[in-house]
Amino acid sequence: MRVGLTYNLKKGVKDGLTNDWDAEWDTEETIDAVRSALSAQHDVVPLEADENVVENLKGSKPDIVFNIAEGRDGPNRESHVPAMLEMLGIPYTGSDPMTLSLCLDKGRAKEILSFYKVSTPRFQVVSSISERIKLKIFPLIVKPLHEGSSKGVKNDALVFSPSELKKKVEKIIVQYHQPALVEEYLNGREFTVAVMGNNGDTRVLPIVEIKFDNLPRDINHIYSYEAKWIWDNSKNPIDIFQCPADIDDKLRDNIEEAALKAYKSLRCRDWCRIDIRLDSDNEPNILELNPLPGVLPKPEDNSCFPKAARTAGMSYNEMILSVLNIARKRYNL
Ligand SMILES: Nc1ncnc2c1ncn2[C@@H]1O[C@H](COP(=O)(O)OP(=O)(O)OP(=O)(O)O)[C@@H](O)[C@H]1O
Ligand SMILES: [Mg+2]
Repeated sequence: MRVGLTYNLKKGVKDGLTNDWDAEWDTEETIDAVRSALSAQHDVVPLEADENVVENLKGSKPDIVFNIAEGRDGPNRESHVPAMLEMLGIPYTGSDPMTLSLCLDKGRAKEILSFYKVSTPRFQVVSSISERIKLKIFPLIVKPLHEGSSKGVKNDALVFSPSELKKKVEKIIVQYHQPALVEEYLNGREFTVAVMGNNGDTRVLPIVEIKFDNLPRDINHIYSYEAKWIWDNSKNPIDIFQCPADIDDKLRDNIEEAALKAYKSLRCRDWCRIDIRLDSDNEPNILELNPLPGVLPKPEDNSCFPKAARTAGMSYNEMILSVLNIARKRYNL
């Protein structure tokens, strides 16, 4: 088949922008790895998801697109490429534009989860600095409403007093030009769950636990920007993951059930990575869904979807090809 590969390439530091501005985009190494996995069985056409992407898609006419494009800008950026593909009638891997936009608005995603009675931490979306915040149980965590890759979730995202809360909310609104999501902080164990498939054929890969014990001492127990990209890096990897997670059967069943319910509630397709944390009753709560999961190829990069796939006995190439095949099956291709 002729497989298009849509992506956004990292551009590096830019004047006037926070240094995490392109944290969500992929490196050449990741794009090459996905390309090489697909090339094992298909003709691959790489397509950078810039403003010329429609013309390039029309010119190259792929049979299907493997989409890892996080999008350029705006609260609906992850849905831009899939929306164009939908318009052009080109099949593509992963969730549709509505699901991608919903999951990128963590507040809206949580509203849907609540409707389907899937546990998620209590929250409030705060759009202006003058808004009264009703959540009072400290510590609270404050995050930008629609970011990923821990953009804007630094170690100081945890706040312990009304004055810290006010300052942090203001900072998010001003620096990230978007509402702040204020959430009840759950300090139980944290897991991330890779899900693959559709309808009756959906499977959960081995669960990854994020262990905070190996992070520098005196830091908050959150998988922050620093933990994801600074303290843990491929030159100096710190061991903060355990896969499969060391949990009993009952907890594993509960986590898998919560992940599958969340996947279904948000109508995810083909694949997704779901972040989960336990509350004080050891009940799994959904933090957020990542329908375009990161797929850094090197094991020492500690990318969680590939890690779960490896533990399930799948190589990187097998993982990428099986996402493609799940999408092909969905389209009867
Ligand atoms: N309500 C919460 N209670 C406890 N910890 C939380 C909560 N919300 C977020 N965290 C911590 O902050 C981390 C980052 O939050 P979140 O997953 O929402 O951000 P993200 O940038 O979308 O992440 P990703 O890199 O997975 O896209 C989580 O992995 C978790 O450790
Ligand atoms: Mg996350």
